[in-house]
Amino acid sequence: MTAGAGPRRAAIAGWGMAVPEGKLTNAELESRNIGTSNQWILERTGISERRMCAPDETTAGLAIAAGNAAIKSAGITPGDLGMLIVATCTPEQPIPETSSFVAEGLGVRCGAFDVGAACAGFSYGLVVATGLVAAGTDAPILLVGAENLTRVVEPTERGTVILFGDGAGATVIGPSTAGPDGPGVLSWDMGSDGSAAHLIEITAGGSRQPTTPESVAAGAHWMQMNGPEVFRTAVRVVVESSNTALARAGLTTADVDWFVPHQANARIVTAAANRLKIPAERCIVNIDRYGNTSAASIPIALSEAADDGRLSDGDIVLCCGFGAGMTWSSAVLRWGRPA
Ligand code: UT7
Repeated sequence: MTAGAGPRRAAIAGWGMAVPEGKLTNAELESRNIGTSNQWILERTGISERRMCAPDETTAGLAIAAGNAAIKSAGITPGDLGMLIVATCTPEQPIPETSSFVAEGLGVRCGAFDVGAACAGFSYGLVVATGLVAAGTDAPILLVGAENLTRVVEPTERGTVILFGDGAGATVIGPSTAGPDGPGVLSWDMGSDGSAAHLIEITAGGSRQPTTPESVAAGAHWMQMNGPEVFRTAVRVVVESSNTALARAGLTTADVDWFVPHQANARIVTAAANRLKIPAERCIVNIDRYGNTSAASIPIALSEAADDGRLSDGDIVLCCGFGAGMTWSSAVLRWGRPA
């Protein structure tokens, strides 16, 4: 699907992020005596520290803070919003959707819904927003990726606790009609492979295995992950999906000014970038400070890179998310506010 063929494109009008003050450092994890070390974590993941919510901080709270920052950056007010989309796999509670709490926190009454595609949630949401814009939505769309993953990883399980952190990133998306060279989403690709659902999962708390004293005692509410298998699949789908999305825009990796992949593991980013022949200096990587924040990682990376001036108007940006499901999604956009 090529979004730019028509007269309207979805462009990013504003951005923002929010992370908790609390930090979980590699030194703290090493001191837990769970068979890991600062050196191992740094070498195998590139992570030094992650942000961690205090007991009174939650997914929706982070989403509201990031959303308000993006609304301010776009120069609009919450009342201007026409739609609110929240991408998360660590919802505020099972019912209702996290977007309800975020809408209330922002003080809006527009349509609001969650996108559940795990670490691909933000890039899935970007495609959904692109579709809404193409369908004629004029009012700005707020797309937030927000996670509180430290609540769902077992504190002594070294395979997961070393990776995941908390945070939120947000973008305001609006229609742009500047023509072929104007800003906005140029193309995208989405995919999923449900046969890999078992690679990352929380098995209890749903229809298949309701919450019971036994499920809690068995630790079935913690996230379980087959890290090495996810790693191999991730590198393959990032390369394939990125190339597919770029081809749909009539571009190649040589045209990419900035590669903004989901920050899952620095070695996944390096392996994928090498295969795509995108040099390290054109990759946005902040996993050292935040760890893997799932649906929040791409919008946090975009916010930081936009605020520090790395992203310039006209730059070709390739975003690629992947995660539990497995799901993946890539979007190619020309950076710049709607024109
Ligand atoms: O967000 C999207 C979804 N998630 C991901 O994309 C995560 C993808 N996977 C990964 O990032 C990596 O697989 C991990 C970081 C989870 C694990 O790294 P790895 O390089 O795949 O390690 P491994 O599981 O293959 O283990 C290698 C060795 C093993 O020891 P031996 O058998 O070689 O002696 C493990 O027992 O490292 C050991 N090990 C650890 N040692 C210290 C595994 N985890 C740890 C640890 N600390 N945390």
